[in-house]
Amino acid sequence: MADTVVVSQDGSVVEIRLNRPEKKNALTRAMYEAVSAALERAEADAAIRVALLTGTGDAFTSGNDVKDFQERGADRAPRGGSRFLPVISSFQKPLIAAVNGAAIGVGTTMLLHCDLVLAARSARFVMPFTNLGLVPEAASTLLVPRLLGHQRASALLLLGEPLDAETAFAWGLVNRVVDDASLMSVAYETAQRLAALPPQAVRLTKRLLKHGAPDVAGRIEEEIALFGERLASPEAQEAFAAFMEKRKPDFSRFS
Ligand code: COA
Repeated sequence: MADTVVVSQDGSVVEIRLNRPEKKNALTRAMYEAVSAALERAEADAAIRVALLTGTGDAFTSGNDVKDFQERGADRAPRGGSRFLPVISSFQKPLIAAVNGAAIGVGTTMLLHCDLVLAARSARFVMPFTNLGLVPEAASTLLVPRLLGHQRASALLLLGEPLDAETAFAWGLVNRVVDDASLMSVAYETAQRLAALPPQAVRLTKRLLKHGAPDVAGRIEEEIALFGERLASPEAQEAFAAFMEKRKPDFSRFS
């Protein structure tokens, strides 16, 4: 049987591909575990700078495996949540999602924890939690209203209304919509651009964006302290020297 999650490496980019196309990449517990393990390995591996999430076939993922839900509800399987959500939401390196088709339930809510979301024109986003008698997860009741406002969040999370790729772009849920055939080449191009940047500066900026102090004064303090440290960092020194010497900077030796 083929692996339901396929992990591959291209230079400093790790690709994590959901690979259960016959079930539209519905996520089983084993798949959550495999994605979590791949992210943890990527975090620990200094050679990896960017992670890329995508799916095989015409779906990104149809969300949690409904059969799994049914079994958990009937007490035939452990009820505790997997470590997937804590792992994806605390991943420190840039995480790109290449949404190649339907993104249902956690297929959409996991995108709230990615840094850049690229969507194929055929992508569809739905969070049908109430439709299934459930409530939303992955902090989506916090993050969707923060991103889209209460009314749009209500259409998506109360009614379970679907969004097409263009609307998702217009609403700010995705960075870019591209033709289906170009999705992976655009995703890799984006990943390579991130991978060529000074890695610590990128990780610190992601940390500020996601976990910085909640108020302006606190954030200014936090930024200024880091900024001072960064001026003396080898990464910044390389960038300054490259500028003065009119050459391209090389951040490949940093991790
Ligand atoms: N869990 C378990 N099986 C799923 C699944 C899921 N989340 N999503 C799809 N499948 C299965 C279908 O049961 C079907 O299995 P079968 O071939 O044994 O009958 C197979 O995957 C193909 O799905 P199908 O519905 O025939 O494909 P489609 O192209 O018509 O529709 C989706 C694709 C993703 C739009 C549709 O399958 C769907 O809405 N899935 C359910 C999503 C859902 O409610 N997820 C939970 C969110 S909280």
